[in-house]
Amino acid sequence: MGGSGAARLVPSGADTLAPARTPFGPADAPLRRWINAAGCEIWWLERHGESGAIAPHRVNYRANIWLMHSLGLDGLIGLNAVGGIDDASYPGRIVVPHQLIDYTWGRAHSFAGEAGFGRPHVDFTEPFDRRLRLHLLDLARATGIDCLDQGTYAAVQGPRLETAAEIDRLERDGATLVGMTGMPEAGLARETGLAYAMCALVVNRAAGRSRQPIHEEMARWLDAAVEAAGRLLDRTGASD
Ligand code: HPA
Repeated sequence: MGGSGAARLVPSGADTLAPARTPFGPADAPLRRWINAAGCEIWWLERHGESGAIAPHRVNYRANIWLMHSLGLDGLIGLNAVGGIDDASYPGRIVVPHQLIDYTWGRAHSFAGEAGFGRPHVDFTEPFDRRLRLHLLDLARATGIDCLDQGTYAAVQGPRLETAAEIDRLERDGATLVGMTGMPEAGLARETGLAYAMCALVVNRAAGRSRQPIHEEMARWLDAAVEAAGRLLDRTGASD
């Protein structure tokens, strides 16, 4: 599931499938499909739409996850741009978080009771799939990508960025990363039984944590983080 700035990871020869309808309306973009360097079939969906203009609180998470679930994939990797809260989550680094805290509100966040779906109380103790996380970490090690094992992702509503006091609160809560799209994406994936892990691309230090203006940091680090994620994606599925 592609995020901000990641559309350029789709190779020019990738197939394009017509936008799919789901019981929850249309997915936000056409599906793209290609075979990566490891010989693995990649299905790609741009959660912010083809133009990248769909704001985090307006993404049709249910349609997007329903579609990915219906493909019968082995796993789903979310590429999510984040702000780093702790010192270890510095810009340019990739983090594979193991936990999350959901602060979003007003988003259609569950399939329970819809489309014949009856899984209202899924176990979310470990929100990210352990096997997929370990696979990403192995790939990062094998490809020499600077990648941190573990982090706690705070999913915030956005689309504005946070105040410094809000980041202080998230830190007191135990969060090390902040982003806007990890939920309800991860929760919906769990409801469908689709293994989901996040590849968090740190593109800035969170509000109040740097002397540099946030947007300057983002502009400076996004490309490097996306490039590293692209190298991971290219090896995904490789057994090493
Ligand atoms: N806050 C919330 N979402 C983000 C940030 C941030 O600092 N950086 C990238 N996505």
